Amino acid sequence: MSRSAALELDGVVHQLPVVEGSEGELAIDISKLRDTTGYITLDDGYGNTGSCRSAITYIDGDAGILRYRGIPIEDLAGRSSFVETAWLVIFGKLPTVEERNRFADLLGENSMIDENMRKHFDGFPASAPPMAILSAMINTLSAHNPELWNVTDDDSMERAAAALMSKVRTIAAAAYKSSIGEPKVYPRYDLKYADHFLHMMFSVPYRDYQPTKEVTAALNLFLMLHADHEQNCSTSTVRMVASSKANLLASCAAGVCALWGPLHGGANVAVIEMLQSIQDMKMPVAEYVRKVKAKEDGIKLMGFGHRVYKNFDPRSRILKKAVDDVLAQQHASDPLLDIALELEAAALSDDYFVSRKLYPNVDFYSGILLRSLGIPLNMFTVMFAIGRMPGWIANWKEIHDDSKGRIYRPRQVYVGPTGQSWEPRSER
Ligand code: SDX
Repeated sequence: MSRSAALELDGVVHQLPVVEGSEGELAIDISKLRDTTGYITLDDGYGNTGSCRSAITYIDGDAGILRYRGIPIEDLAGRSSFVETAWLVIFGKLPTVEERNRFADLLGENSMIDENMRKHFDGFPASAPPMAILSAMINTLSAHNPELWNVTDDDSMERAAAALMSKVRTIAAAAYKSSIGEPKVYPRYDLKYADHFLHMMFSVPYRDYQPTKEVTAALNLFLMLHADHEQNCSTSTVRMVASSKANLLASCAAGVCALWGPLHGGANVAVIEMLQSIQDMKMPVAEYVRKVKAKEDGIKLMGFGHRVYKNFDPRSRILKKAVDDVLAQQHASDPLLDIALELEAAALSDDYFVSRKLYPNVDFYSGILLRSLGIPLNMFTVMFAIGRMPGWIANWKEIHDDSKGRIYRPRQVYVGPTGQSWEPRSER
């Protein structure tokens, strides 16, 4: 029996259909609201608004649940690889051996970027933000091998997905090499995804970088945990751009730009900067917490809080353990980790944070893990983008495959001046 919501407006009761998701979420379908009532809804920040139906990722923010295509992140974290998880996110199921091998070949075959593209890096100053380079170069990919990006069927979708996932790695590593004045490292066919990236980041002509298995596993885990996260700011941006039937590259380049902000993917950098400043100033953690609560200078506890999770972000727990494992294997410690642990303990026992349901999110420990892998701070958000690429591709694909899809075009409530007219400059 279909359910509906009654909305009384100006003495008239309107019945609005209720939509139920496969995990029992309930939504009021307002797609006919304006036509039937003349009203629109208003929802600052879209906190209560579903923009689409999607079958990719499910989050239960109250229970701290995250599932990719129905599989809990905890199941994948211990057993799967980033590339296998990417296939799951993009194509909706775990790959068979044949599919996995075919995708791995496509990743290897498409790891180079056009030789003329490599010249662009010479034009960037060493201080150029890698996120600016990443979004620019993802768009630039469309100038080369246009046939690679023309998605018309499953085969071309698979090839484009592999090519983008592979080349984004090459671009990121080349941006890093440019920034430190080292020669860019050409891809190799024989390396798996994470090792291939680390090779292009840290090998030099006279010595190949050899990551430990713990470093490779930690990078795989980092990327997998970032693979998708339903309609977050950057993924919604990808869908917005894709809805105009823009190509995969334009849509994902827009996602990179949205991710860059410190309230979103840039938070992994902001967390480290916060921890570093606490250490540099020798500030007691209690004093920093006091400043946050007093909202002094608008500072926040970066890496804490989430629009959806009102419980622990399941990814932060997994990342925290990965940090412990890598540092233990390296017989190393990180003073910033000690500060992070102290901050977390202080916040989790303070009603200011508990009452606002502020818990560590994915960014609170991810930066410390990246530090332990030797990734430089200015590359942290780029790492988030590399991890999120399968999710962006999957959301682009959902839009692309929907032949009835409409362009995203929200309405607004106009609050500007009314009844104005043009005046000659002499009278202004
Ligand atoms: C990511 O959406 C996703 O899924 C994103 C992501 C993904 O995988 O794609 O999970 C990745 O972006 C994680 C979030 C990374 N950002 C940060 O860590 C930045 C710090 N966090 C905050 O800026 C904030 O928590 C947000 C942006 C994450 C969420 O903001 P909301 O939902 O708009 O919450 P809000 O600003 O309305 O806050 C509600 C209250 C306010 O207090 P009061 O006005 O009621 O007194 O909580 C307070 C806020 O001041 N608050 C914080 C806080 N976050 C919220 N106070 C101190 N420190 C914080 N971090």
